[in-house]
Amino acid sequence: MQIEGLTAIVTGGASGLGAATASMLSAEGAKVIILDRDHEAGDAHARAIGGRCVTADVTDEEAVAKALVQAESAFGIARILVNCAGVAPSIKTVGRDGNPHKLGDFRRAIEINLVGTFNILSQFAARLISAEPLGEERGVIVNTASVAAYDGQIGQAAYAASKSGIVGLTLPVARDLAREKIRVMTIAPGIFITPMMMGFSQAVQDSLGQQVPHPSRLGRPEEYADLVRSIIVNPMLNGEVIRLDGAIRMGPR
Ligand SMILES: NC(=O)c1ccc[n+]([C@@H]2O[C@H](COP(=O)([O-])OP(=O)(O)OC[C@H]3O[C@@H](n4cnc5c(N)ncnc54)[C@H](O)[C@@H]3O)[C@@H](O)[C@H]2O)c1
Repeated sequence: MQIEGLTAIVTGGASGLGAATASMLSAEGAKVIILDRDHEAGDAHARAIGGRCVTADVTDEEAVAKALVQAESAFGIARILVNCAGVAPSIKTVGRDGNPHKLGDFRRAIEINLVGTFNILSQFAARLISAEPLGEERGVIVNTASVAAYDGQIGQAAYAASKSGIVGLTLPVARDLAREKIRVMTIAPGIFITPMMMGFSQAVQDSLGQQVPHPSRLGRPEEYADLVRSIIVNPMLNGEVIRLDGAIRMGPR
């Protein structure tokens, strides 16, 4: 699909990979809606790129329904959805203190990363099918998994499970929506410099960067956004997960 003039929703667009994607889409001429639970940061970035921010928690069915109505009344039916909202907890199955991983923490990661992704993509698609196709396509959904879906590290049981759930739903959802001419793709990023990463010291960031075979550094959010752009414009990309990771395969820690 050509991006110019289309309405695009970016969840988690207030920060990191989502913010870079929102900037890219705006620069390509899209009308951008940032959907984030962080209203202050979402609104500031939306203003900076000439878009709008709608505040919602992706796990909340009604809040997402309301946000999609708000988005549509601002900019018309959205044809692009990029799911970047997510959290990355690090908790071992049994802690040093001998206590098991709190089930509530496990559920929360699954709820935000996996259920939240499905909640908005299903509601987005249900609204979009009433719109006329543009040529051979009606719209595109891009989800964000992680290389942890394949090489989950120590402390990543919940995170890796949530992300492999996103990998798992990519093909069946693409098949479900094929008749509606809506494509579904997932990106599995390696390690990118975002606020999620900036919490670590420079030494830790450098050491993580050196683990990437080539190029031997952390990924830049603009490089993630560039893959989103390529996916949107290439109609043959559908039902697949693309690792974006400089060939890194994560070790146990
Ligand atoms: N940064 C990395 O190295 C990396 C690597 C692999 C995968 N990812 C994935 O990419 C995505 C974006 O990561 P990032 O590094 O940009 O993170 P980030 O923390 O910079 O941004 C995440 C955004 O999601 C929003 N958010 C979180 N929970 C939400 C909810 N329930 N409802 C609505 N908004 C919510 C936050 O407010 C924030 O704006 C995440 O899904 C993350 O797991 C990141």
